[in-house]
Amino acid sequence: MSLPDKGRSTEELLAEITRLRRDDLPVRGGKVTAYVYDTGRPEVHEAAARAYFEMLEVNTLDPTAFPSVVEMEKQVVGAVAELLGGGWGIFTSGGTESIMLAVKAARDSGKTAGRPRMAVPVTAHPAFHKAAHYLGVVVDAVPVDPVTFRASPAAVEAAIGEDTVLVVASAPSYPQGVIDPISEIAAIAAARGVPCHVDACVGGWLLPWLREAGANVPPFDLSVPGVTSLSCDLHKFGYSPKGASVVLFADPALRRRAYFASASWPGYTVINATVQSSKSAGPLGGAWATFQALGREGYLELGRTTLAAARTLREGIAKIPGLRVLGDPESALVAFGSDEVDVFVLSDEARKRGWFLQPQLSYAGIPANIHITVTGVTLRGVEAMLEVIAEAAEAARGRGPARLPEGLVELIAELDLDTLDDETFGELAASVGVDLGGSGQPEMAVVNAVLDALPADRREAVLIRFLSVIYS
Ligand SMILES: Cc1ncc(COP(=O)(O)O)c(C=O)c1O
Repeated sequence: MSLPDKGRSTEELLAEITRLRRDDLPVRGGKVTAYVYDTGRPEVHEAAARAYFEMLEVNTLDPTAFPSVVEMEKQVVGAVAELLGGGWGIFTSGGTESIMLAVKAARDSGKTAGRPRMAVPVTAHPAFHKAAHYLGVVVDAVPVDPVTFRASPAAVEAAIGEDTVLVVASAPSYPQGVIDPISEIAAIAAARGVPCHVDACVGGWLLPWLREAGANVPPFDLSVPGVTSLSCDLHKFGYSPKGASVVLFADPALRRRAYFASASWPGYTVINATVQSSKSAGPLGGAWATFQALGREGYLELGRTTLAAARTLREGIAKIPGLRVLGDPESALVAFGSDEVDVFVLSDEARKRGWFLQPQLSYAGIPANIHITVTGVTLRGVEAMLEVIAEAAEAARGRGPARLPEGLVELIAELDLDTLDDETFGELAASVGVDLGGSGQPEMAVVNAVLDALPADRREAVLIRFLSVIYS
């Protein structure tokens, strides 16, 4: 794009945005089972959008200049703390930022002789690896049980050493939707004098409502002895517009370790509660309004329908020939695998039928599978979803596994990606049927099969190059 010589009308711009979004997945309606969270109640999203817009130009950089930010944030964080065992919180832009702050607080309060380390189950979100990467912390990977996919407390214990500043557990972990044994892990961490972070980015604003609706949810929040911090995303099951999460600390002194202030320059005084400095109060307004528009009753009702949909889905998938649900998830996330059909082909087949089912690569002994996030809107379409999964599974069985060009995986495994130019990378992608400049709904089975065949560090190198090429 080049900057237009003259300004254009709002109508023209909106028409252009509609055109740009032509190939996007739909954000409402329940046919996209990852990335988006739909209540199925347009009036709630409308209230959030209007509040977001109202707060759009308010800058949270200086809370003394915009006291509305402090008042709104205290209300939102207060509601989260009330539901999740108390504590002192910060409103952040998302799960990754909440986790970044929890890791920073732990790093800055730990006293280690060597580099600080943290014990992280292999099913924990990559945000911990990102935080470790940014903050100079070393990750000690903790294996999970191969049947339940829950982190083993004994393995956590074994991973704690002299320099461990944080132990991590998830409620639930994203890949299979299961809750790690939080009480046991937090007790082990406490006995060793190490803080314990519960990643409840998915479950924080979901599990309490599921429990109230009748699900068997073990204790997982700040009321569990030994849990020192917790992340809870509001832009997931809080149903807020994106850019909304809360990180809670059991102790105000630990929260202060997450903050940052600088007086080391001749400009305005910098006090930051988050990684971002200047930022819009729009997401805070959106989260606040979503809470107000749904209320306790609304969230409980969404919890009921979500629980019913998740149960129907799990039972329905178990009846489809060749498919099996992985683990026994207590949450609304469902993963299924297969020894008979290629799940990546199944995902492509579902996409052809208008449904996005998220493929997950194999890792740490866990097979490749398909992930579905069940939300408030899922129940009304759950039978249709099951029909599509069954049809897509049959179609995938008929097509057989994705066929990779001979030698391709070996070639990519040995490529020196640092010296390869973008054009050659694009040609390589084209050879497996991926048009990096293209749009629409690409067939991804071959790409996923190639990635799946590579070790994690090669996958990462290929993905970074992919990102660099699509933004060229
Ligand atoms: C368990 C868990 N933690 C953290 C995150 C990161 O959240 P975000 O994408 O908001 O940064 C996710 C995202 O899916 C998640 O599932």
